[in-house]
Amino acid sequence: MKKTVGSLLGQKEAGKKISMLTCYDYTTAKLMEAAEIDTILVGDSLGMTMLGYPDTLSVTVDDMIHHGKAVCRGVKDIFVVMDMPFMSYQTSVYDALANAGRLIKETGANAVKLEGGAAVCDQIRAITDAGIPVVAHIGMTPQSVNAMGGFKCQGKDVAKAQQIIDDALAVQEAGAFMVVLECIPSALAAMITKKLMIPTIGIGAGVECDGQVLVWQDMMSLNMDMKPKFVKSFAEGGELMRNAFAEFDSQVKEGAFPGPEHGFKIDDEVMAKLK
Ligand code: KIV
Repeated sequence: MKKTVGSLLGQKEAGKKISMLTCYDYTTAKLMEAAEIDTILVGDSLGMTMLGYPDTLSVTVDDMIHHGKAVCRGVKDIFVVMDMPFMSYQTSVYDALANAGRLIKETGANAVKLEGGAAVCDQIRAITDAGIPVVAHIGMTPQSVNAMGGFKCQGKDVAKAQQIIDDALAVQEAGAFMVVLECIPSALAAMITKKLMIPTIGIGAGVECDGQVLVWQDMMSLNMDMKPKFVKSFAEGGELMRNAFAEFDSQVKEGAFPGPEHGFKIDDEVMAKLK
């Protein structure tokens, strides 16, 4: 059954946790569909995981659309959320609406996500009013990495924690139907989850959130550059792939691959007539 805004809100009401993984391509999307993941986030983290940038700031709307289209071709039931990249919505409500429209029209995804609390509520309201579901993202917001002085846990003192609570209430009031809570103390995330009617999706925000999201390369241990504290490894995918690549290299060099079973036959008579 296709996941919808209604079914995701229903999962919160029923106390049924929501699973979300990032995804950026067709093959991985098909595997996630087979695994019955609830929601895919085509995250602007693709700037780091797929394009090799040091952060998400260089990602464009066209980059997002390129990957979003591939993901949407691979899924039927999963609810797909497209990240709005840096400066595609901060500049004006008009830009936010135009870019959200492109992300949905050109990919076939179901919702957009944007970072920020009270500061982007006008954008959230306008996009929602246009009939596009919005996921908000508060706490540690990677597009503000320069203002935050790095990828650090947010909301540890009273003023900053209260600001995150106020942001959560503001984005809900502006029309967001779900909110990502990134890198905030678990007790604060639990409090916000209780206060909100809409589902909270945590990443580094503890188990009390209504759902969890991870970057798929992180949870498969493919990321050799860093391992954030909140990441759990669900498989040694990096080691598996490295070993397979090395085995391919050896077998090609030893002439052990391809074997006869990997080749195609031709009649001896045909061969005999060739000059
Ligand atoms: O872009 C992304 O992958 C994200 C998640 C970390 C929530 O925004």
